[in-house]
Amino acid sequence: MSDLPLVIVSHTLPAGWLDKMEGRCRMLIGPVDATRLSDELAQALPQAEGLYCLLTIPVNHALLERAPRLRVVSNMAVGVDNVDVAACTRRGIPVGNTPGVLTEGTADLTMALLLSAARRLPESSQDAREGRWKTWSPTGWLGADLYGATLGLVGLGKIGKAVGQRARGFGMRLVYSDTQPNPQAEAELGAVYLSLEEVLRHSDFVSLHTPLTAETRGLIGAPQLRMMKPGAILVNTSRGPIVRMDDLHQALAEGWIAAAALDVTDPEPLPPEHPLYQLKNCLIVPHIGSATQNTRRRMAERAAENLVAGLEGRHLPFCVNPEVYPE
Ligand code: DGY
Repeated sequence: MSDLPLVIVSHTLPAGWLDKMEGRCRMLIGPVDATRLSDELAQALPQAEGLYCLLTIPVNHALLERAPRLRVVSNMAVGVDNVDVAACTRRGIPVGNTPGVLTEGTADLTMALLLSAARRLPESSQDAREGRWKTWSPTGWLGADLYGATLGLVGLGKIGKAVGQRARGFGMRLVYSDTQPNPQAEAELGAVYLSLEEVLRHSDFVSLHTPLTAETRGLIGAPQLRMMKPGAILVNTSRGPIVRMDDLHQALAEGWIAAAALDVTDPEPLPPEHPLYQLKNCLIVPHIGSATQNTRRRMAERAAENLVAGLEGRHLPFCVNPEVYPE
């Protein structure tokens, strides 16, 4: 047996995506459609020195306890809410993520959702297929204009900014909330900094771009949805638990807001019997914000670079807990 370090790769990825790890480690790879760490991989945790995983794998205390030799966790995602980063830090394990490479793809999908919800594309497409398109109707499938409307960005990080750039191209006005003002982004985008409450009250569209943390979990619930305009559209491409799903259902069913478009839900996958699927004014897609060939490949490669750096004792190029490194 080779003396290369053992790395657990939670899922099978397309050929070539993990080339940067070839020859640097022994890879034990899970099934393509795994919804958890497979039994075979879980049994190998005690020997594993690296873990390469997707956002669906909880890297929690229990897993870390079983993996005393672990020296690096590389998450093939920018979000790391599936990883107990504090627990990794206590063990001196660097955690890698993949910022940057999925910014544009996720911003594109955000605009696609925003436009689809504004112009009621899923509903009108289904009506056309199912014979309800009887004539050109002056009042049929009326939607909302983007031009001149106000888009409220909750979070003005990389993805929020990229959405703002696109929205400006559509003639939208921009407001945003964040943990603090971002003067540079304000200058670039002409976005106005407001409190979350003001953003919700003044926006025609609200798009969420904040990481999932203890502070943002449940950030948008009944009180916040009630603050929004009756014609407002909510878009979420960040993390599902930022929105309270039951409250959103009530808001959509009772017309507190006009529509929602969700790339992320709580839980994921959202079971087919979930009542949100019954609502015509709720568009749900299966967490595909980064789902383009180029983006996913670049995420995989970035995660591979992090993994190899960790194994070789180098600083991870993209590390969420750099405090693990001595000064
Ligand atoms: C991420 O990387 O966190 C995204 O949600 C994946 O699409």
